[in-house]
Amino acid sequence: MTRQAAHPVAELFTARWSPRAFTGEAMPQADLDTLLEAARWAPSASNIQPWRFLYGHAGTGTFAGILAGLVPFNQGWANKASVLLVVTSKKSSAAPGATEAKPNPWHAFDAGAAWMSLAIQAHLMGYITHGMGGFDAAVLTTALELPDDAQVHAVIAIGKRGAKESLPEGLQARELPNDRLPLSAIATEGLWRF
Ligand SMILES: Cc1cc2nc3c(=O)[nH]c(=O)nc-3n(C[C@H](O)[C@H](O)[C@H](O)COP(=O)(O)O)c2cc1C
Repeated sequence: MTRQAAHPVAELFTARWSPRAFTGEAMPQADLDTLLEAARWAPSASNIQPWRFLYGHAGTGTFAGILAGLVPFNQGWANKASVLLVVTSKKSSAAPGATEAKPNPWHAFDAGAAWMSLAIQAHLMGYITHGMGGFDAAVLTTALELPDDAQVHAVIAIGKRGAKESLPEGLQARELPNDRLPLSAIATEGLWRF
């Protein structure tokens, strides 16, 4: 399926998608740093930058610890990623110039923006990313020594695209870009009419 934009957008928005087949090859730290740099420049409420990323390269104990925190379905394909990256954010923070940490109502919104910046940068560099909500937060919290103030949002599999045939059989037919709701179903001028 080729994705068709209903209105003219930059090609990267429809060309980016989330395959599950990875090659498992090593990812240079410099490339990962570039992805994280893109995330670093995301906008955030009061420029608090509440996002915190924890990652492990394939073959390390950290990678194995993050993988163990995924649900079995995700473990079945994310085990071939080059990097597993955990997107977290700080639920409370002191705004610039303040000393007292207060709940930050926008921490999750801002972490989402940062992950998308990372995903776009990855796409532009020929990497694929696949976000996962299928994880056990308690396992990740223990494995990565997360404090109470940290919220885990997603685990991101990052790497180079592999052959569809390398996937478990049940997943091969799903290795296709999907579609989106029409604009009329997600945006309206004025009152909520969805
Ligand atoms: C927060 C989040 C959680 C997701 N959780 C999973 C998951 O646990 N397992 C999975 O295979 N895909 C997961 N996905 C991938 C989505 O299903 C996918 O992004 C969506 O269908 C849109 O497809 P696209 O990214 O290819 O455009 C997740 C994506 C996001 C952003």
